[in-house]
Amino acid sequence: MFYEPSKGHGLPHDPFKAIVSPRPIGWISTLSKEGALNLAPYSFFNAFSSNPHLVWFSSEGPKDSATFAAETNEFVANLVGRDLAERMNRSAVNAPRGVSEFGYAGLTPAPSRLVAPPRVAEAPAALECKVTEIFRPKGLDGNDAGVFVVIGEVVGVHIDEAFLAQGLFDTVKAGNVARLGYMDYSTVDAVFSMRRPRWKD
Ligand SMILES: Cc1cc2nc3c(=O)[nH]c(=O)nc-3n(C[C@H](O)[C@H](O)[C@H](O)COP(=O)(O)O)c2cc1C
Repeated sequence: MFYEPSKGHGLPHDPFKAIVSPRPIGWISTLSKEGALNLAPYSFFNAFSSNPHLVWFSSEGPKDSATFAAETNEFVANLVGRDLAERMNRSAVNAPRGVSEFGYAGLTPAPSRLVAPPRVAEAPAALECKVTEIFRPKGLDGNDAGVFVVIGEVVGVHIDEAFLAQGLFDTVKAGNVARLGYMDYSTVDAVFSMRRPRWKD
């Protein structure tokens, strides 16, 4: 089949997110300018530069995470391990501004080192980030797409040492949870390795 998204897909559910998958989940903790604590998952999230370490998340509409990040210029991107999937999902509740999803989801805020928003103590890893840019992308029609892309530089990295083996982060042990399409998720339960070819070999 072929379809043009602007004209509809004719399927029972939109396959777009199932095709662009798996997507890592940035579990974003932020503080508002008044000090209200917030936590929410974002699967429009990824790293896109290693030097400096840059990550982004995208809010479809002005949700609290993007609003708070804009107010205070800081956020933490926490990693969702397999044991945390259900609590991550609870934290997606549309709680009113000022109500912390940490308590609602049964999670513990732990102090960050270099930014004010706390991290999720239970997370296998967490990236402390300072906002470098927030931009409002346009569609082909030139109209504002209604999304807020928050970019941050990673200034501190926490790793729970239970997930370090011979100096390597153990992705299978952490079971990194990713978002697929529909109501589906995946977890890392197997890895394989490949060496990149070099022309002279
Ligand atoms: C796994 C998962 C991924 C999500 N990814 C996004 C996303 O990338 N962008 C977005 O706007 N909402 C996303 N959502 C929905 C938000 O988490 C939800 O609207 C939440 O209430 C926003 O909270 P906030 O207003 O505290 O930021 C996602 C929800 C789940 C469960």
